[in-house]
Amino acid sequence: MLQDKDRIFTNLYGYQSWHLDAARARGAWDNTKALLELGPDTIIDRIKASGLRGRGGAGFPTGMKWSFMPKNPTPERPSFLVINADESEPGSCKDREIIRHDPHLLIEGALVAGFAMRARAAYIYIRGEYIREAETLFAAVAEAYAAGLLGKNACGSGYDFDVFVHRGAGAYICGEETAMIESLEGKKGQPRLKPPFPAGAGLYGCPTTVNNVESIAVAPTILRRGPEWFASFGNENNKGTKLFQISGHVNKPCVVEEAMSIPFRELIEKHCGGIRGGWDNLLAVIPGGSSVPLVPAAQIMDCPMDFDGLRALGSGLGTAAVIVMDKSTDIVRAISRLSYFYKHESCGQCTPCREGTGWMWRVMERLRTGDADISEIDTLQQVTKQVEGHTICALGDAAAWPIQGLIRHFRPEIERRITERKSGGIETMQEAAE
Ligand SMILES: Cc1cc2nc3c(=O)[nH]c(=O)nc-3n(C[C@H](O)[C@H](O)[C@H](O)COP(=O)(O)O)c2cc1C
Ligand code: SF4
Repeated sequence: MLQDKDRIFTNLYGYQSWHLDAARARGAWDNTKALLELGPDTIIDRIKASGLRGRGGAGFPTGMKWSFMPKNPTPERPSFLVINADESEPGSCKDREIIRHDPHLLIEGALVAGFAMRARAAYIYIRGEYIREAETLFAAVAEAYAAGLLGKNACGSGYDFDVFVHRGAGAYICGEETAMIESLEGKKGQPRLKPPFPAGAGLYGCPTTVNNVESIAVAPTILRRGPEWFASFGNENNKGTKLFQISGHVNKPCVVEEAMSIPFRELIEKHCGGIRGGWDNLLAVIPGGSSVPLVPAAQIMDCPMDFDGLRALGSGLGTAAVIVMDKSTDIVRAISRLSYFYKHESCGQCTPCREGTGWMWRVMERLRTGDADISEIDTLQQVTKQVEGHTICALGDAAAWPIQGLIRHFRPEIERRITERKSGGIETMQEAAE
């Protein structure tokens, strides 16, 4: 289990104040100038050496991403850092805790990361529903300016750097990096075709890197404590500490910072007080937020909770939003509800996503009630394959994967409903279990 001395987020639960003086007492903004004096290339090398992979879902190596930015931006075409605080993935609730209780970790990270990629400014895009969090963030940024930590000659480093906070209006798709850039530009938040990638042409057509809140907030601590320290946690290729967000049928749902690769069972036992009704009552887990396929109980027990461990089970770490479902869950209904979410959030640009998400949801609803033919399960599976990989952004994949996971692992349950419906009755899974 991760020890307190190795926690980056020491005010995750808000027992102390988020204000600048308290954040400084916890170690934030401690001689940031010395970090900047390392120079952009050394900072990037150290972030690479730490093994940090993006915490926004895809797990792209963070140092490498920063290294794609131009080495000599011009005043006419400056570089920008965009920080993704949209956090709309069902199950995800970690960036919120950082912003609520330790916003200065993020703001200092913005300066350090922005400096490393030679950016002129950072834009923090925060989801519209995070009203109190946005208030805290605006106030914390103002504190940093007043203390000379941001703005002209930030931290006395000779480097000028601004941080702007931008509130979204509550669209899941604005979490996708190019939709976020469109939205920041004042347009409808719809993803762009790639290439060009944001590092070539992003915000206002300028070189841009989009990073998740957690990816940025951990950077100053990594530099202070050293890349080896960060890399000492987790399995090969899956390094560092990570905020896990465990919801659903555990005794004590929580957000907790743990070592990457902690086994599922240990995570739940140590921090969540076990599964509601005991381990035999566990049905399945969605380990990385609503976009990743579920994993049945037996397979996930000893799985290392990291990118590679969960990929080996046909799922993913995503944002580490672990949704636990016990045997009282109507699993078909749960996945159908996610299908409704993706249908609702599709931006409508691509035909397979616009039409497919609605079509898949309607079939899922009939599978839920059993009003379907068994052959439709295969048809649904085929349609998910026609959506997956055939769209501008990954929302299409995100809509397809949960359904594929359901069919892969719970086909007998779907068939049972159809058969029972045809023979005149349908039980819920709970009734069937009794
Ligand atoms: C539909 C969709 C929604 C997304 N929502 C978020 C989000 O809310 N927060 C986030 O950090 N990344 C989100 N992403 C991933 C971003 O596009 C991007 O990969 C990420 O912010 C990169 O940060 P990282 O490299 O630090 O992980 C989303 C992607 C897609 C396709
Ligand atoms: S996949 Fe869906 S959400 Fe993404 S661009 Fe296409 S229509 Fe929009």
